[in-house]
Amino acid sequence: MDHFLYRDGALHAEDVPVAEIASAVGTPFYVYSTATLERHYRLFEEALSGLPHLICYAMKSNGNISVIRVLASLGAGIDVVSVGEYLKAKAAGVPGERIVFSGIGKTREEMRVALEGGIRQFNVESEPELLALNEVAVSMGTCAPITVRVNPDVDAKTHEKIATGKKENKFGIPISRARAVYSEAAALPGIEVVGIDVHIGSQLVELEPFEQAYAKVAELTRQLRADGHDIRRLDLGGGLGIPYERSNAAPPLPLDYGAVIKRTVGDLNCEIEIEPGRLISGNAGLLVSRVIYVKSGEERDFLILDSAMNDLVRPSMYGAHHDIVPVIEPEPGVETQPFDIVGPVCETGDTFAKQRALPPLKEGDLVAFRSAGAYGAVMASEYNARPLVPEVLVKGDQFAVIRARPTYDEMLNRDSMAPWL
Ligand code: LLP
Repeated sequence: MDHFLYRDGALHAEDVPVAEIASAVGTPFYVYSTATLERHYRLFEEALSGLPHLICYAMKSNGNISVIRVLASLGAGIDVVSVGEYLKAKAAGVPGERIVFSGIGKTREEMRVALEGGIRQFNVESEPELLALNEVAVSMGTCAPITVRVNPDVDAKTHEKIATGKKENKFGIPISRARAVYSEAAALPGIEVVGIDVHIGSQLVELEPFEQAYAKVAELTRQLRADGHDIRRLDLGGGLGIPYERSNAAPPLPLDYGAVIKRTVGDLNCEIEIEPGRLISGNAGLLVSRVIYVKSGEERDFLILDSAMNDLVRPSMYGAHHDIVPVIEPEPGVETQPFDIVGPVCETGDTFAKQRALPPLKEGDLVAFRSAGAYGAVMASEYNARPLVPEVLVKGDQFAVIRARPTYDEMLNRDSMAPWL
């Protein structure tokens, strides 16, 4: 459930008419609902109630500092994958002991910054990374808390570009090698083993792959404890999918996901961490855009919007579906018509949807992409010299720009002329 509903014939973000934001900010823009972010976070809190836990929001899905602050003030931890994300989390007010650092390519410099600023744990993804972290920690006279990310070789049954838990993927250490790597880690003076980490992919719409992976982690926990390691924390990753198409069957709920966690690892006396991103931020955001032209082609009609693949890349990158709705509520029973919905970028791939049924729309009308809060603004670029799309946060009847659209001057000034030109 989200807080983007039609009221008096017009789409609202909580209590604010979307059209009002469009007049104030211009289009395109992202708009996020505080109430929806909070609601989704609390669903995970409920799902894990009874277990010691920390929900570490994966800020890669939406890293705006205001969004992080909303979640952090509810007690969330944060999962970061770069020193840039680490610094943003800190800037949003998240203490180091609530930040976990994931990712396969952490540099020594990134490790140093995180050790200096405070970190809950590094999720280590390879032996070379383990050795590098040990070196950095020893050189700083400290000890780095770690989990090792294991690759359980489980099919997450999701899009191939976002599956991470198969042995052919670049992530983690094969679970079969885990015991050897943990004994290596235990012998390093700059490393303190605190647990195990696993993450098998994103937009999972079935629970069975989680169940398989977590059962393997449970077995590994017992083995590692028997080997003498103090496994006290399990980071179970993110990945629970969201309903992108309202017409489709809904994916499992956080409560069902929590039941899988309780069933598989609940009796191990471990603190549980999860790293959900999309389920918290995805349906908490819209991308709002204006129709520039309605173009009648020979075979089909095109709706040309002022947003493009540089603003929301998911449809062209993954063939992803986003529901697209008019901001003015269609009259009941109005006839729909099929459109190809496209952006102005000079690529055929700049297509959001093909033959999508929409009520008749005309130049200047506003439309909203649903489920655009995750992997939307964070993946945007300035391709075709289109200024980075702004972001707005709504709370009740208030709204605020939380990232302004750059001016053309700002955009131009980012480049500089080589001195010999
Ligand atoms: N933890 C780790 C280690 C991850 O790699 C990810 C996502 C998450 C947590 C959060 O997963 P979530 O709960 O959001 O599914 N750009 C793609 C998604 C990439 C996901 C990358 N990793 C998309 O637009 O679908």
